[in-house]
Amino acid sequence: MTTTPKYVIGNWKTNPKTQDQAQTIFNDLFDYLTQNPNNQATCTIGIAPSFVHLPLLGLKNPQNSDVIFLGGQDVCAYTLDTGAYTGDISASQLVDVGAKFALIGHSERRQYHGENDEILTQKIHHALTANLSVIFCIGETKAEYQAGQTRQVLEKQLAILEQFAKDFANQSTQNNQLPPILVAYEPVWAIGTGMTPSAQEVDDTHNFISEVLSTLEIFAPILYGGSVNDKNAQEFADLPMVDGVLVGGASLKVDSFSQIIRAFID
Ligand code: PGA
Repeated sequence: MTTTPKYVIGNWKTNPKTQDQAQTIFNDLFDYLTQNPNNQATCTIGIAPSFVHLPLLGLKNPQNSDVIFLGGQDVCAYTLDTGAYTGDISASQLVDVGAKFALIGHSERRQYHGENDEILTQKIHHALTANLSVIFCIGETKAEYQAGQTRQVLEKQLAILEQFAKDFANQSTQNNQLPPILVAYEPVWAIGTGMTPSAQEVDDTHNFISEVLSTLEIFAPILYGGSVNDKNAQEFADLPMVDGVLVGGASLKVDSFSQIIRAFID
């Protein structure tokens, strides 16, 4: 029986194509979770849908908020509330439509939107100020992995969290199920590729991340992400240093996602 809290978070990215499909996946997942009520005791389930689907799921399902936590896939770096930032969604806007957390620093944001440490720091600041939990994503590229630079890269990416230790990181949040900061270790080469590091590598890397976080005086759960599916989830769930998973593709299939959840409950 699991005793430490676990987190299984789905990142829907730019999927699915329609509102109806988003609502169907969400409803099926909600039904699954409510038919298995023990789930909530040990494992927090979250979904980060596309921004355009978030209000649909958030406002039409307010009573569901403790069953499935909703989050944004990103947050505006430049304002907490409102302003002239075309295309951006602010932390306050996210809270208003029912979001409880935001992904920040996902490798696809770093890669396609050039997000650097300075921008990510502003995003984290706004999210935490708005009382959103932050799932801060870090990970090395394939070239960095092959060059044996994983730890160096992760240590550098984690360093920006230090400034949040005093004011935010170790406080309790409005809800007691999501802490203010969670870290998701997602090797870039494992995202959407079907490749993963070995279980031993993941456990060792999480141990390293945990050591770095304690030097920064941050105490945060550490999730693994990158090609997690219903076949390999149990292996990750069995690792002592893995507090949960961030799941892309497999989170869009309720059968797979519910099996991943089971792995973290049993
Ligand atoms: P994946 O994506 O599970 O499809 O590899 C994970 C992620 O990008 O968070």
